[in-house]
Amino acid sequence: GDEVLQEHFDRRIAHDQRIEPRDWMPEGYRRTLVRQIAQHAHSEIIGMQPEGNWLTRAPSLRRKAILLAKVQDEAGHGLYLYSAAETLGADRAELTGKLISSRQKYSSIFNYPTLSFADIGVIGWLVDGAAICNQVPLCRSSYGPYARAMVRICKEESFHQRQGYELLMTMMRGTAEQREMVQESTDRWWWPSLMMFGPPDGDSPNTRQSMAWGIKRHTNDELRQKFVDMTVPQADALGVTLPDPNLRWNAERGHYDFGEPDWSELKRVIGGNGPCNAQRLARRRRAHEEGQWVRDAAAAHAAKHAARREA
Ligand code: 3HC
Repeated sequence: GDEVLQEHFDRRIAHDQRIEPRDWMPEGYRRTLVRQIAQHAHSEIIGMQPEGNWLTRAPSLRRKAILLAKVQDEAGHGLYLYSAAETLGADRAELTGKLISSRQKYSSIFNYPTLSFADIGVIGWLVDGAAICNQVPLCRSSYGPYARAMVRICKEESFHQRQGYELLMTMMRGTAEQREMVQESTDRWWWPSLMMFGPPDGDSPNTRQSMAWGIKRHTNDELRQKFVDMTVPQADALGVTLPDPNLRWNAERGHYDFGEPDWSELKRVIGGNGPCNAQRLARRRRAHEEGQWVRDAAAAHAAKHAARREA
């Protein structure tokens, strides 16, 4: 019966063995994977919008080509992840429906506006930097298809982070006005980047179970700390200050101490009341509607082929 299957599953998890699509798995394991993978995919797709805003405004052909490649990569990351969700029996059209009707989430970070071109560099540096901190451990997630999607995504993510940091280095060697643009952008994106890692562990209903199932390998606060420790030296090398007066190296802990993010802001943004939530969802809904003819044509083509095969 199921208790033998459950025991076999528990043993595999305990031995850090991968669970594959055809393996038996507890319903809760399947459900939380669909939840996390779908919302990860939604984040990648929605994340194309803030950067897309600067595709036609990039200052040079080189910057435009790099940004175009990055936005296309993110579309691809979304497709890998929707495919991983489909191995769990999820239906891609249904997931899109849940996104545009706010029954599923996407990362809070993409609900902030991109007000200057320096934001493109800061998103690469901080947002993709945070994504790397969060996604590298997911390469060891217990669910095979998710972990393998992460390996490919992390390779591309490191290019995203490097191009952002190089863009900022270039601006910091520019005029005083360009240096001010980088500082102003860093001030706007620092705290929302810390919030990307989720609520504090004491307020995270999913962490304990996700850790027990090997879906998550670290808690939200552990990854947030790792990101701060990695990023402070990069800010120093760049010559920008981070907008946190409580940020200081703690030799006893071997980590940076830092201030408390505004958790009420995270709750507001997750709840749909961030600066750009309505605009992001409206844009995604419109793109879906405008794509209806492509889906109809593909279905008609497939039906014709199927009919011809049967004839
Ligand atoms: N934005 C939106 N929702 C968030 C959030 C955030 N920053 N942080 C937490 N939440 C939601 C959770 O989804 C959960 O709601 P749900 O139960 O309805 O899904 C609730 O708040 C409580 O949070 P928990 O900590 O209990 O939830 P998780 O254990 O799922 O942890 C997470 C949240 C750390 C985001 C985890 O889901 C995760 O690691 N997901 C995979 C990575 C991911 O989605 N990253 C998005 C960043 S964007 C990105 O990577 C693209 C790159 O190109 C920038």
